[in-house]
Amino acid sequence: MEKIIIEGGNPLYGTVPISGAKNAALPLIAATLLAPGSFTLHNVPDLRDTRTMLKVLETLGCSWSRKDNTVTIDSTNITGAEAPYDLVKTMRASVLVLGPLIARQGFARVSLPGGCAIGARPINYHLKGFEQLGVKTTLSEGYVEARSPGKLVGNVVYFDNPSVTGTENLLMTAVLAQGTTVIKNAAREPEIGNLVDMLTIMGAQIEGKNTDRLTVQGVESLSPAEVTIIPDRIEAGTFLIAVAATGGKVTLTHCNPSHLPSLIEKLRLAGVQIESDASTITITCPVSRNVENGMVRSVDIRTMPYPGFPTDLQAQIMALMVFGDGVSIIHETIFENRFMHVAELQRMGAEIRIDGSTAIVNGGKKQELCGAKVMATDLRASASLVIAGLAAKGTSEISRIYHLERGYEDMVTKLKELGAHIKKVHE
Ligand code: EPU
Repeated sequence: MEKIIIEGGNPLYGTVPISGAKNAALPLIAATLLAPGSFTLHNVPDLRDTRTMLKVLETLGCSWSRKDNTVTIDSTNITGAEAPYDLVKTMRASVLVLGPLIARQGFARVSLPGGCAIGARPINYHLKGFEQLGVKTTLSEGYVEARSPGKLVGNVVYFDNPSVTGTENLLMTAVLAQGTTVIKNAAREPEIGNLVDMLTIMGAQIEGKNTDRLTVQGVESLSPAEVTIIPDRIEAGTFLIAVAATGGKVTLTHCNPSHLPSLIEKLRLAGVQIESDASTITITCPVSRNVENGMVRSVDIRTMPYPGFPTDLQAQIMALMVFGDGVSIIHETIFENRFMHVAELQRMGAEIRIDGSTAIVNGGKKQELCGAKVMATDLRASASLVIAGLAAKGTSEISRIYHLERGYEDMVTKLKELGAHIKKVHE
């Protein structure tokens, strides 16, 4: 197993390119199951999760190849209908093949993902949505079996909560159903917009992109497409928060600042200077604000579906708020168990109290963190520990970094190029 070693206390300077979005690449790869032929996806990050999704497609009969960040997928012959437990257990987003498989061949069998480190994460909305289009779903031996007895028929589907992968799964089924499907209280994350664009290029008829009401007029068949994955807003946000914590000046390129409205607002309120144009963001944070000499302003955070503050940046902003000038109240509203990083941050000296779904972070009094041996528990918690390690005094060792590699492309190399003293070693 590998671990990361960080010598903290160095400001970050330079330019960092942002990779394609993991959470857009996964549904777009799944969408290639919807039509026979050869698809070309550009800007696909090379991550543990994208590799897993490509493996799922392989087990279904697709072939694929990668050249740099362009992935070509041939989905002409679908020979299977099952996403097995061994793959789904390593990545819950494998359930995204359910929708396209049902739409293309009327049957799919996908291992039911269990809970994960951040919460129970059921898929009941996905299943209810499929059933409203005429699909029969049953649970057998830990697998969801979904079968459509006849042609799928459009319907009005309302989500109790705006679910990201739920919206994506249902969209991918509705595009080939007969008649009109309306998804109400749909999630509005930019990754869904990326999927809508791909499906539209393939011949789907969808109205309401980027809104909470998507109307799909089903079509008979779809064609292959060539598309580009949008920039990863969570990776971009993680780098911005890292610079806010260490001090320095960094320009993010190949990103989309308009996908980060809430984070940019919060960082500005925290006293950080941010400038952006269409595809770059420059963050400037005086080194006098680093842990050695000063603080950022404490701000309160409430995670919300897009365009609210993303739950996928909650752990990272908490690491920053440890250096705040007062108290920060962080309320997690999306997942019930997304505070696993707190105990690790406490081991580095952070003063954080948990009360239900609220974390009270006590900055003030020129807080400092000390490097320590800590353990990553999930993807975003790992990123939070990296940020804490970069801004702490002394050496930190982060183990179980395979979590980080699920969702950040070359993070260690990118940070090194910005001047961080960070390396990956075998335990
Ligand atoms: N929910 C249900 N039933 C469902 C679906 C969702 O109760 O059938 C609940 C969830 O438990 C949660 C809320 O609805 O409380 C929203 O969950 P959502 O379905 O939106 O989450 P997801 O689609 O499983 C995606 C991202 C996550 C990200 C969340 C929230 C992908 C592949 N995953 O998950 O990303 O945290 O949306 O924005 O898009 C990550 O990248 O680290 C990550 C966990």
